[in-house]
Amino acid sequence: MSGDIKEGSAALPSKWPGSGGLQSKSEVVERGHPVWAEIDLAAIRHNVGLLRAAAPGAEVVGVVKGYAYGHGNPASAVAMLEGGATRLGVARVAEALHLREAGIGAPIHVFTEPPPEAAGMMLALELVPTVYTPAFADALSDAAVAAKRVVPVHLKLDTGMHRVGVVADDVSDVVRRLRALPGIDIEGAWSHFAVADVIDHPATRKQLDLFMDLVEEIERGGSVLRYKHIANSAATLSMPESHFDLVRCGVASFGLLPGRDFAGTDLRPALALKARVNMVKRLPAGEALSYGLTYELEHTSGVVTVPAGYADGYDRRLSGTADVLINGARHRVSGSVCMDQFLVDVGRAEVEVGATATLIGADGGDRITAEELADHVGTINYEITTRVPSRVPRLYLNEGPRG
Ligand SMILES: Cc1ncc(COP(=O)(O)O)c(C=O)c1O
Repeated sequence: MSGDIKEGSAALPSKWPGSGGLQSKSEVVERGHPVWAEIDLAAIRHNVGLLRAAAPGAEVVGVVKGYAYGHGNPASAVAMLEGGATRLGVARVAEALHLREAGIGAPIHVFTEPPPEAAGMMLALELVPTVYTPAFADALSDAAVAAKRVVPVHLKLDTGMHRVGVVADDVSDVVRRLRALPGIDIEGAWSHFAVADVIDHPATRKQLDLFMDLVEEIERGGSVLRYKHIANSAATLSMPESHFDLVRCGVASFGLLPGRDFAGTDLRPALALKARVNMVKRLPAGEALSYGLTYELEHTSGVVTVPAGYADGYDRRLSGTADVLINGARHRVSGSVCMDQFLVDVGRAEVEVGATATLIGADGGDRITAEELADHVGTINYEITTRVPSRVPRLYLNEGPRG
């Protein structure tokens, strides 16, 4: 299957459904959503263009698993393809099904083996299966033979991260067994870095060396590997010798830094999380706020209710630590984040009901980043965006030609 994006080809749908078809902020509010995510599709196109330029000899696989790291599919996938990705990558067959149902025809890699029972579905959707166990390879081959097809597969090699994949000692044996199966063809081999987010980490070099040795061993055995791939966003930006034929980019496509070492890269954050202030009151000094009454007002203050909470992916550990932007000014979350709401002591600032509170994103000259929230929570930026659940509508901005 070619990764070309051509007018009239099945690689991209001519029209894809947005998140409930929401077109504007007023529509979001009219439908009663107090909190929403704005996804800047132009930022995704820009970021993918930058990654593509960083790996000129390779095709970019836009990694859109986890609902495109929370940014939403199929819109994010389409933006990636418009930005220059020629392939997509997901973790689950169901994620690929969602993209196919939206009319996306580009090659879609599935990074883990599903249960053998799903082999037929993978074939029907023309996915690019990852294979690392003979049991799944058998099922896939049987399904392909029944359909009178030979399915190209990519062999996952475990070079050190030890999640899934064939360990070095087993590679020759597994490849021999796979080559004997009539319904599959080993088209590619790949692996995944564990610490590429730290530039020049010795473990990354070790993984790359082992990957190259294993690829050589497979090719010496007679297989022709059209696609070798190991680079994620971090390696795409920092390790040209790891690019090979495909680079698989997720986090940086969304404008999130792949690690602290990448500060200063021209990536544009694509996701903003915003809420509409729904109550403002003035309370006297000594009053305490929210569950546990953990925050006490020092002065008579304006207290703003923001209708977003941990059910919107706004972690409870942001209680008393994170800032939000209201009318371009920073204010600290005051007291406990609840399931659907939290409170902000805005002191003497004038805030009206209906004002926008920016939980992630820019307002005025300031910006709250996913990295900043991740530091408060003790996690990574990936998790902050990926945890924004489906009850939060996505409002897609700057649609491309296919939008
Ligand atoms: C197999 C595989 N390839 C590529 C990626 C993309 O990595 P990143 O988001 O760091 O670019 C992931 C994401 O974790 C992955 O699981």
